[in-house]
Amino acid sequence: MEAPRLASQLRCPNGVEAPEVAKRMNDANRVLNHKCIDLLQLRASDSLLEIGPGNGAFVVDIINAADNISYTGLDWSPEMVAEAQRLNVHLVEQERANFLQGSSEQILFEANSFDKVMAVHTLYFLENPGDHLMEIRRVMKPGGQFCIAYGDRSFMKDLPFVPYGFNLYDETEALALLRSSGFQTINTFQHNESGLSNTGAHVNKVINIIVCNA
Ligand SMILES: C[S@@+](CC[C@H](N)C(=O)[O-])C[C@H]1O[C@@H](n2cnc3c(N)ncnc32)[C@H](O)[C@@H]1O
Repeated sequence: MEAPRLASQLRCPNGVEAPEVAKRMNDANRVLNHKCIDLLQLRASDSLLEIGPGNGAFVVDIINAADNISYTGLDWSPEMVAEAQRLNVHLVEQERANFLQGSSEQILFEANSFDKVMAVHTLYFLENPGDHLMEIRRVMKPGGQFCIAYGDRSFMKDLPFVPYGFNLYDETEALALLRSSGFQTINTFQHNESGLSNTGAHVNKVINIIVCNA
């Protein structure tokens, strides 16, 4: 796939290619997603919101992390919402997971709704990131944990699709953004992985994971 088309698919998987793009993202991001789930230290009866789950391939791992977890996935791609519902049909029927179409810019939940929020590889696409982050904090319970993961600027800058609409951050820039959006008690982790990129090429990934409190 040409770089501009791939960039657009990563931002918002769409059309007939979307399911295949999502599967490739699953392969590329599996280890990172599992690490983020572990870092969130899910406890019984936690409610978790995920921003940009794609096809929801890791939702079962979230649900199985503790008893009675309730999961909501919010993705602005209608194709991804449909695919996530299809792949997680049993969890949806049991009302343990639900998938909604929408943007983190305006989250249709009341304040103090969620114990935990997770967002993996979505930061690049936010036009006014502070607005999105404040909106995420609004729907979190005070003291709840937010885990955000994104490729560090130093690693991302050389990927061929990045010039087509990706905003890049190093750790300092993302921390400043989170602090100015009201998050506190911030812990940072670096995830290094040698593996497949979304282009299919082998790369040495440098991913920042930040866990902070609302
Ligand atoms: C690069 S993919 C990452 C998918 C998945 N989190 C993973 O780790 O493989 C980005 C996903 O987030 C969705 N997305 C990006 N920004 C979003 C936003 N602000 N609100 C809701 N969905 C968003 C896209 O539609 C896409 O499904």
